[in-house]
Amino acid sequence: MDDKRILLIIGGGIAAFKSLLLIRILAKRGIKTTTIVTKGGQEFVTPLSIGALSGEKVFTELFSLSDEAEMGHIELSRSADLIVVAPATADLIAKAAHGLANDLASTTLLATDKRVLFAPAMNVRMWEHPATQRNIETLRENHALFIGPDEGDMACGEFGFGRMSEPEAIAQRIEKILADATALDDLQPKPLKGKHILITAGPTREPIDKVRYLSNHSSGKQGYAIARACAALGAHVTLVSGPVSMAAPEHVNLVRVETARDMLTACEAALPAHVFIAVAAVADWRPAESHTSKLKIDKHNIPPMELQENPDILHTIAHAKNRPELVIGFAAETDNVLDYARGKLAKKNCDIIVANDVSGDVMGGDENAMIIVTKNDIDKWPMMGKQKAAEKLAKRIAEILN
Ligand code: C5P
Repeated sequence: MDDKRILLIIGGGIAAFKSLLLIRILAKRGIKTTTIVTKGGQEFVTPLSIGALSGEKVFTELFSLSDEAEMGHIELSRSADLIVVAPATADLIAKAAHGLANDLASTTLLATDKRVLFAPAMNVRMWEHPATQRNIETLRENHALFIGPDEGDMACGEFGFGRMSEPEAIAQRIEKILADATALDDLQPKPLKGKHILITAGPTREPIDKVRYLSNHSSGKQGYAIARACAALGAHVTLVSGPVSMAAPEHVNLVRVETARDMLTACEAALPAHVFIAVAAVADWRPAESHTSKLKIDKHNIPPMELQENPDILHTIAHAKNRPELVIGFAAETDNVLDYARGKLAKKNCDIIVANDVSGDVMGGDENAMIIVTKNDIDKWPMMGKQKAAEKLAKRIAEILN
């Protein structure tokens, strides 16, 4: 098994010596091991012996200038395919369950987005204590994996469950997990799997002539964040985007357009969809006439510009024969935010209007305070990062659809 790497966290227990064997077994099978050993762990095994067996640097300190320079603790938490905590003491399990982060091991467990396999080892009474069992339950809910503990004689002279699983068994389990891509897949549940979500984002550009256009300050950040958040929950996302300076989000089908009319055509072509989210700041008007060459400047004869109304994409899709089952519009207003939002809900045939006050620097900024307006309800969310708000909205969509 080449190119696979685990991050082993060795906790403070007598079973720590077995983790040295584990490192050897894994090395023989081509699995590399980076190790963190806790202060307690160092009472039983030394960084020197671990390093000699793994052939890699061993990390011990959270606030180590040299370690941080080499590989920061956040990077450490993400550099492996799998994290293995062996022995997982009652203390490490409790910290991980509660999100404590006061040393390198616990900080790493809190910062990781990788699967974690715990191999518990402790006295049988500690294992059976309701506090430990509650912590195990919490970790399971957070998608942690467990091996053991086994039943048998313990170093403390008692008999029962609490022995760390044998290194060979742990190694086999590690190999099995590493071979299973879905087990290693990111840990989020995928409640939007099988759903097609169509999203508009960014501004539109309405040409005046070959080089000039009408547009607005929309950055596309919120729409792109929503696209990412929906894709992360397993949705098939089509993102129809006006001109913005962002790269295509991963796992999203991006369709780039310029004008409102192009945006509508692209949206209609992307139907059917389960959900339509109109985040784009579509230009309301376009020059009635657009010139194919650059207009010449004539100070004494400024050309009049007649404007024509653009199609309302949200209104059109929300009244389409194949209307998505959930239609969400945005209402960016500078005053009377809620009144306008309620009005738009009915006028545009939406199920939800996400209202936001753009009198500050929401437009183009990184934060947003969304107000979720439905026919019978108003839910005000606090100011938060646009990605965070997007994730909250994606979760709400999943709840509604399911
Ligand atoms: O009417 P107003 O522009 O405030 O409505 C905002 C909502 O309508 C947003 O969801 C926006 O994406 C959508 N919209 C649209 N097409 C337009 C104008 C607005 O889809 N031409």
